Amino acid sequence: MQSKILAYLKSQPNEFVSGAKISQVLQISRQAVSKHIQKLKINGYDIESVSRKGHRLLNPEEDKYNFMEINHDNSTTKMGKSLIFLDSVDSTNDYLKKIALHAEDMTVVIADEQTAGKGRLGRTWTSKKGAGIWMSVLLKPDIEPASAPKITLIAAAAMTLAIEKVTPLQVGIKWPNDLVISSKKVCGVLTEMSAELGNINYIVVGLGVNVNQEEFSEELFDKATSLKIEHKEVCSRKKIVLEFLKHFEDLYVDFLNQKTLEKTLRICKSRSVLLNKEVWLTTKASKRKVKVIDLNEEGHLMIENSEKKTEEIFYGEVSVRGLNGYVDER
Ligand code: BTN
Repeated sequence: MQSKILAYLKSQPNEFVSGAKISQVLQISRQAVSKHIQKLKINGYDIESVSRKGHRLLNPEEDKYNFMEINHDNSTTKMGKSLIFLDSVDSTNDYLKKIALHAEDMTVVIADEQTAGKGRLGRTWTSKKGAGIWMSVLLKPDIEPASAPKITLIAAAAMTLAIEKVTPLQVGIKWPNDLVISSKKVCGVLTEMSAELGNINYIVVGLGVNVNQEEFSEELFDKATSLKIEHKEVCSRKKIVLEFLKHFEDLYVDFLNQKTLEKTLRICKSRSVLLNKEVWLTTKASKRKVKVIDLNEEGHLMIENSEKKTEEIFYGEVSVRGLNGYVDER
């Protein structure tokens, strides 16, 4: 009901609306109106209440990041329609995995802060309150478990389009799961899966986007950046999330229907920071210098090894680095 009242106040910008009018339009008691207005104020909305005039929302354009704002403005068919917004959580991926079997397909969990954010290959993911987008999506697709890593590419492509829509920045994609700007990481994707022989129970795809950090620790300084550092302006987490949900639904549904990654690969290839580059390819067993020549239709990396032979690199425990650092300039 809070979001309905908020939407109604937003539809009458800077106008006083009486409690009686709200109660009539939304078919709730006057007491309920007062109670919900009170809650909206507690939730940070600047509402002026004047007796015999009513209530009016001040700063209706203010960029807020909470359940109501995202739920109300989400224009997808299904993606994120079941939404959980948390103030703080250990990890949105872990939270979603705990409820996955009973939660609806395409449920989205967003947290303002993660206290134990996880990265790929067992790394930690710093997720300070208010600084970024820490979000996970639950998917229950009828596809082969071996195809699950494709979801990482779909998520990376969708987030690329979202950032490019909301900011003037150009995003690079570093296979398989990083988005980069100015040769530094701005977003990472962590895809986890529960499966049995030939059958996926669920996939949880988590995205961490550095949005409004102004600096990074010494350890991350030369590897990580944020949209604010690059754009030199505060960026709207809400707008990016809404754009992401739209593009992710579009690319994901296209993948399920067409049974190809074509649309996603077009985005990934055109933004790739690895194609035609020499890189270090590291696995648990080896580290070698190779040349990246393509992304094949499965979304696997095609490389040329030191003997000029072509190899297909699957996702898994592999890391790719530029010869001179995290990633070399495009
Ligand atoms: C990586 O680049 O190593 C992947 C980083 C993924 C971070 C996100 S933040 C939301 C979700 N919850 C987590 O614990 N991790 C992912």
